[in-house]
Amino acid sequence: MSIDQPAWWTSAVVYQVYPRSFADSNGDGMGDLGGVLGKLDYLAELGVDVLWLSPIYESPQHDNGYDISNYQEIDPVFGTLEEFDTLLAGVHERGMKLVMDLVVNHTSNRHPWFIESASSRENPKRDWYWWRDAREGFAPGERGAEPANWGSAFSGPAWTLDPTSGQYYLHLFAPEQPDLNWENREVRGAVYSMMNWWLDRGVDGFRMDVVNFLSKNPALPDGTVPAGQLWGDGSPHFLSGPRIHEFLSEMALAVFDGRDADLITVGEMPGVTIEDAKLFTDPARREVDMVFQFEHVSLDQGPGGKWDYRGLDLLDLKTSWNRWQKGLAETGWNSLYLNNHDQPRLVSRFGDDAGFRYESATLWAALLHLHRGTPYIYQGEELGMTNVPFTSVDDFQDLESVNWFREATTELGVTESAALAALRIMSRDNARTPVQWSDAPHAGFTSGTPWLAVNPNYTTVNADADRASEKSVYRFYQQLIALRHDNEVVRLGRFEMQQEDHPTLYAFTRTLGAQVIRVLGNVSGNELVLPDLQETGGSPGLVLGNYDAGSPDRLRPWEVRILESN
Ligand code: GLC
Repeated sequence: MSIDQPAWWTSAVVYQVYPRSFADSNGDGMGDLGGVLGKLDYLAELGVDVLWLSPIYESPQHDNGYDISNYQEIDPVFGTLEEFDTLLAGVHERGMKLVMDLVVNHTSNRHPWFIESASSRENPKRDWYWWRDAREGFAPGERGAEPANWGSAFSGPAWTLDPTSGQYYLHLFAPEQPDLNWENREVRGAVYSMMNWWLDRGVDGFRMDVVNFLSKNPALPDGTVPAGQLWGDGSPHFLSGPRIHEFLSEMALAVFDGRDADLITVGEMPGVTIEDAKLFTDPARREVDMVFQFEHVSLDQGPGGKWDYRGLDLLDLKTSWNRWQKGLAETGWNSLYLNNHDQPRLVSRFGDDAGFRYESATLWAALLHLHRGTPYIYQGEELGMTNVPFTSVDDFQDLESVNWFREATTELGVTESAALAALRIMSRDNARTPVQWSDAPHAGFTSGTPWLAVNPNYTTVNADADRASEKSVYRFYQQLIALRHDNEVVRLGRFEMQQEDHPTLYAFTRTLGAQVIRVLGNVSGNELVLPDLQETGGSPGLVLGNYDAGSPDRLRPWEVRILESN
């Protein structure tokens, strides 16, 4: 993308739909395509440009669809291909685009490819997955016999023994999610033709699940075992691995080349560095349009990782976002997000969901959307939905949460109450309870029994109540989206952080020619006296804020102001 000809997605805002929790049209307790169709006007009114659908393909639903058993069918719990076509047409009629989730680091273990591959050592698809003998000197099945010591992202080892052939297969996630072997040319070809099939059907691009994991070091060496953990960290051997750039360029050539539609490709890339992100998103290299990186959502975690929650030090976030803004200022593009189906709710994690729910939800929204990059809204975020008061481990369904709880309390010496406290703040299920549409039973999500219980605060936190309120989170998001659509400076302006060392003030400017936008946010529940009024440019015009006009020299709890001074 050059500054003279910015890509269309620099002005776009993406909305993520997690279909099973969005809206249920047939009363089976599970959201579905009909449910999404019924809410298209709500989404169009919000103003978003792109819908990203989490996986709706045929799947045993072990990881809620991120374990695909048929890439070219819709899972019956969500609907049919005909319903999909109707939905796609409805999205296009409203001037929006539809992006599919592409999960090709792994398949389901029920995918015919894996069933064949597992059937014998001689099967032609044997090499489509990573099969290895037990470690030398160990009998298959013995503790320590795994071919490498890597842990899986969902607890336990990253290897499972298949008794049929006596070999182990690799799974960076659950045993039900075996990793495809991208070294194999036929695997890559099969994935590219599936992608072409969806593009020919009319979809507008892909969000690519853990796409920087595709290339592994084929030697699969052991990793270091972090303190307090049971398994080794294999990530140095598969994060942005040796052939990843080659694979993505090849994919671009095989799938996107020669298509004249305005497509979008987003690479979900845990652990990606700025240097690598630049390579992945340099338009001249034609790999992906933007990265979806994780640094900022890891800052509130201690050395023990995700479940070692410490709370956020704003200075860490300022440093991280500043580095990414600067790092990709000339070349490359980033996604801007604080929520998705894998993250707890932002207003509970980074704001104050009790005393200042509206103010802190809108403050974070404004800070995020005014950065350079493409903003993502996760369903319910635009309503200020909160974390859930889970009371027992039995309330959780997410396999990552449930597996970790079991491992932590049986093998890592964590008490049940400490493990539950960690799940309450960090579990992915916080994001996965049904969208709260109204104060009707089950928040208007379903006429049946929801697959995961609705957050009990739905009687007050819901779309109907929010949109009727003076203080509407939805309306604030609407205004943020419109700001990006209408202002080149929001899309492309130069980013400059101000007051870098201030512990609670998040302040920055965006500049394009003579146009300057200034954002001032008080990331705290206390009043904040602005440090240097000169620096805020005198009395510039308020474009958008989450309070009535106040004193020019102080910000109220969780107040954010977007000012224009040209
Ligand atoms: C990605 C998805 C997550 C899933 C994992 C394995 O991180 O966002 O939900 O569990 O990949 O596919």
